[in-house]
Amino acid sequence: MCALLTQVNGIIFIEYRKGSLLPTFIIMTVKEHYDNHLGNFYSWMAGDFNTKQNEQQRFFIEQKILPFDTSIAIDLGAGHGLQSVSLAKLGFTVKAIDFNQQLLSELSANSQGLPIEIIYDDIRTVKNYSFPKPELIVCTGDTITHLSDKKEIKQLIKDCVDVLCDNGKFIVSFRDFSNPLIGDSRFIPVKSDDSRILTCCLDYLDNQVLVTDLLYTKIKNEWHQSISSYYKVRIRVTEIVDLIQDVGLKILYNEPVNRLIMIVAQK
Ligand SMILES: C[S@@+](CC[C@H](N)C(=O)[O-])C[C@H]1O[C@@H](n2cnc3c(N)ncnc32)[C@H](O)[C@@H]1O
Repeated sequence: MCALLTQVNGIIFIEYRKGSLLPTFIIMTVKEHYDNHLGNFYSWMAGDFNTKQNEQQRFFIEQKILPFDTSIAIDLGAGHGLQSVSLAKLGFTVKAIDFNQQLLSELSANSQGLPIEIIYDDIRTVKNYSFPKPELIVCTGDTITHLSDKKEIKQLIKDCVDVLCDNGKFIVSFRDFSNPLIGDSRFIPVKSDDSRILTCCLDYLDNQVLVTDLLYTKIKNEWHQSISSYYKVRIRVTEIVDLIQDVGLKILYNEPVNRLIMIVAQK
């Protein structure tokens, strides 16, 4: 099925007969997808903020992620703040970078009184945040696969290493897209309650996964559908491990945590 998909100028075509293309739907950029769709319900999807934030903080404590030098931590793709708030509570001064204004506003509300600088920017500009040198950079929650391709992932990891102080740590978590889901298993029930139902559909291509978030919202007793699709990079765990080791980082931890692969590495 995947082999039948092709894309021209953001529009997906299905080859329904050899040489005949049928336009199907428009693919959003990652930013458009978050700005017009997922950003509006991401925090609902993620679940209770305090519970999730405490889980995150416990993980950092278990991994001995505590300030030892400049105390500066950078959170790439900070979203509504699960990692930023946890790191600030552990004593870091956090630079929380994201390009979705809605989630940054929620982060602001979640981080009252904590030393968190909220930065509306693209994570690909991480090198602009070199001074003072951070001792920790996190890019978690599958954010790294939101980049355009493996080349950009490689560049981001390299930039993070350049920016980190000596012995600084890099933490990344991402979904393992090695084994394609096929047929009905492509449809993943993510979350539902009395007024919202969210299903995610994954279509595996060679180096990308087409992600479609399908949301039903109940308004005045009627269900309304909204759909948006974007690409993630399909990168294997071994490829990310190689990229991390190639830039000279030492891997301290590499395990699945809550269906994401979590890697902690040190310069
Ligand atoms: C899956 S969410 C993860 C959020 C948060 N780290 C968490 O675990 O809940 C990905 C976040 O990265 C942001 N993002 C994706 N690509 C980005 C980019 N190139 N620059 C800035 N933010 C980006 C999105 O806006 C979104 O908030």
